[in-house]
Amino acid sequence: MSGDFLNLGLGYPAAPLLPRQQLAEAAQHRFSQDDLYFLQYGDELGDPELRRELAAFLTQQYGCPVPQEQLMISGGISQALELVCDTLAQPGDTILTEATTYFLAPPIFAARGLNLVPCPLEASGSEGGPELAALEALVQQYRPRFLYTIPAHHNPTGLSQSEERRRQIAQLAERYGFTILADEVYQLLHFGPQSAPPYSCWVPGGQVISLGTFSKILAPGLRVGWIHARPETLERLAANPTLLSGGGMNPLGAALVSSVLERGMASGLRDLRARLAEQAQALSSALHEFSQAGQPLEGTRWSEPEGGYFTWLHLPPNCLPPHWPLRPSKPASAFIPACAFRSLATRPTRRGFVLPFIRRQSCKRPCAAWQKRRGNCGQQAKARSGWAAPRSATSAQADNPAGY
Ligand SMILES: Cc1ncc(COP(=O)(O)O)c(C=O)c1O
Repeated sequence: MSGDFLNLGLGYPAAPLLPRQQLAEAAQHRFSQDDLYFLQYGDELGDPELRRELAAFLTQQYGCPVPQEQLMISGGISQALELVCDTLAQPGDTILTEATTYFLAPPIFAARGLNLVPCPLEASGSEGGPELAALEALVQQYRPRFLYTIPAHHNPTGLSQSEERRRQIAQLAERYGFTILADEVYQLLHFGPQSAPPYSCWVPGGQVISLGTFSKILAPGLRVGWIHARPETLERLAANPTLLSGGGMNPLGAALVSSVLERGMASGLRDLRARLAEQAQALSSALHEFSQAGQPLEGTRWSEPEGGYFTWLHLPPNCLPPHWPLRPSKPASAFIPACAFRSLATRPTRRGFVLPFIRRQSCKRPCAAWQKRRGNCGQQAKARSGWAAPRSATSAQADNPAGY
C-alpha cells in the first residue's frame, strides 16, 4: 500500500507475515555448511535434499504417501504450468479450465497455443469445482489433454471441492484419458475444517499432476514450488532443454526452503493459518457492519472462506462502475473485477470482485470505498460487447450457472 492507494489486485502476503527470521536462520544454517553444492548448477529434478524433506513434509500434511521419486522442484506453480504444457501438450490441444479461474493461468495456456474451453462451476454456490455432467459432456466433445483446476480455497471464489467430487473427476480422467492439472496452491492453508485430501493422493494410480508452491506458505520471492507426478512423467519434464542447460530450478532458494523444512515448518504453518483466520474474520465483520449500516451492500453476498487468501464479493447486476473495463488490460489494478477471472473463452460479467484478506488493510478500506460507489448499483448499464467469442465452446457452455 502507498499513501491512499490500496492495491487489492494481487494476493501476496503482508510484510508482517513474511518469515524474515526463519529465512535468516535458514541462510545462516546453509552458508555455515562446508558443502556449497547449492551454488552450483543443480540436478534437473531439483535439490535432492529439498525433495527428501518435502516428501516427508507432504506425507505428513497431506495424509497420504508422497515419495521423493515423485517430486520435482519447480520455480513456483506459474513456471510448473509452463513446463508441463510445453512438455506434455501440443499447440491446438484442448485444456479445460474452470469458467471462473485464477486470472493469470489462462494466458500461460494461451501462449502455448492451447485451446481453452471453460467448464461451468457447480451452481449450488456452497461447494466448489467443475459441474460434473457439464464436465463429462465437454470431455466427450473436446477430448482434452488437461483439466486445470484449483480444488481447495479456489482463487477467486474461495470454495473447495468435496472429496466425492475429486474422486469422480479423478475417475473421469481415467475413463477418458485426460490429465488433471491440480493447482493445490491453497491446500495447506485451511483454517476451517480440514480440506478434503488433495489430488496429490491420486498421483500414484491416476491421471493427475499436482502442483504446489512455497509462495503462499513461506514467501513468493523464493520462487520455489513443486510438481508431484509419476516418475515417468517427471523424467519427461526433466528432459526440458532449459533445465538440461541451466540445471534444476533455483538451487539457492530450494536450499533455503530445505533448511526451513529440516528445522521444522509445521508450527509456522499453524501460526500462518491462525493469522489468516483472524484477517478473514476481520473482513467478514467489516462487510457485515457496512451491510447493516445504510444498506450500501444491499443485494450483495460474499463467501465466508475456510482457508486460502480470498473472499468473493458477489454484486447485484450492473453494479460495477461503468468505467471499469470488461477485459482489464492491466489486471493488477486496485480491485480485480469478476470479469478478469473469467476464463479467456468465457463471456465477461460485471458481477463481483475479489477481496484478498491476506493484508490487514484489505479488511475495512474496500467497504468505505464501496459506500462511495453505491450510486452505480441498479443502473441498467449496458454490457459492452467486445469479448472474443470462444474458439470452440458454445455460449451455452460458456455460461456459468453459478453466476461468478
Ligand atoms: C491459483 C493460483 N495459482 C498459482 C499462483 C501463483 O503461484 P506461484 O507463485 O507459485 O507461481 C497463484 C498466486 O496467486 C494462485 O492464486
